[in-house]
Amino acid sequence: MSNSSHDAAHAGLCTLADLIRWGAAELRRAGVLVGHSEDNPLDEARALVLHALHLPHESPASFAQARLLDAEIDAVCALFRRRIDERVPAAYLIGRAQFAGIELIADPRALVPRSPIAELIETGFQPWLGERPVTRVLDLCCGGGSIAIATALRHPHWQVSGADLSAEALSLAAENRALHRLDHRLRLVESNLFDALGGEIYDLIVSNPPYITEAEYTAMPDEYRHEPKLGLTSGTDGCDACLRILRDASAHLCEDGLLIVEVGEAERALRRLLPELPLAWIRFSVGPMGVFAVAAGALRRHAAAIADLCAARGV
Ligand SMILES: C[S@@+](CC[C@H](N)C(=O)[O-])C[C@H]1O[C@@H](n2cnc3c(N)ncnc32)[C@H](O)[C@@H]1O
Repeated sequence: MSNSSHDAAHAGLCTLADLIRWGAAELRRAGVLVGHSEDNPLDEARALVLHALHLPHESPASFAQARLLDAEIDAVCALFRRRIDERVPAAYLIGRAQFAGIELIADPRALVPRSPIAELIETGFQPWLGERPVTRVLDLCCGGGSIAIATALRHPHWQVSGADLSAEALSLAAENRALHRLDHRLRLVESNLFDALGGEIYDLIVSNPPYITEAEYTAMPDEYRHEPKLGLTSGTDGCDACLRILRDASAHLCEDGLLIVEVGEAERALRRLLPELPLAWIRFSVGPMGVFAVAAGALRRHAAAIADLCAARGV
């Protein structure tokens, strides 16, 4: 973003609505990646402008025509400059993200929450969960806690645990847990996948593990460089973490338990690796998103094939 855009802003832009329109055009012109937070430049521009002006997200529509001070325009331009020149995701600049209808603290200790699993939380994991009685739930690879917290809030009688390898991500998850007053009901555990969860049994395990290949990572937009790489990449085909989860989950699921995992684009590789494993690929309102559900029984029946694959790749 050049200083001339900055000057142009000072020359012609007076109102909050002017700045949102201008900001959306700058974001679009610069080709930034939207999708980490909002799904279009106009909504992202609105969120950035309101944040820079210390105004709430739900500001009255009449504010749109409010004239701004020069110092306020400077603050908005400075924020857009960081978004465009440094490609910092909007959620990190704002310090907040929306997920499954709740607000969470967002910063570079964990990925910006954006999993399609939000939609499953909102529908109570139906129809995949069916009539299974649920009390014990694990969010494996919980990052900043989005899935665990949204699930615990929606299901007050479920006992939810979140586990992650990253102490930084867990410290953010703990702040989000406190924000939503869930200290008494959500346990957070530092664990390399299931390693620190020996002997624990769950009715439902949900996971959004890392699943991007190293090759994909190098080609990804710069916004991703601001997120912890540990949360993104998982071996040459993106399947390392998922295969370990498939191998070890059956020991942590009750007899009729259910495992739900997001693998994104790694779906194709996983289908090739385990063509016989009955994974139910979930359709979301926007279509398929690389998320599957699988019953504990199927994992047990295919345990030998999964273990062989893990052994062959040394995971
Ligand atoms: C894609 S992020 C998902 C974070 C969060 N669940 C969400 O949906 O926003 C993957 C997370 O897995 C964690 N992770 C990576 N390897 C792990 C491992 N071996 N054991 C536990 N967590 C791991 C990362 O720290 C990161 O927080």
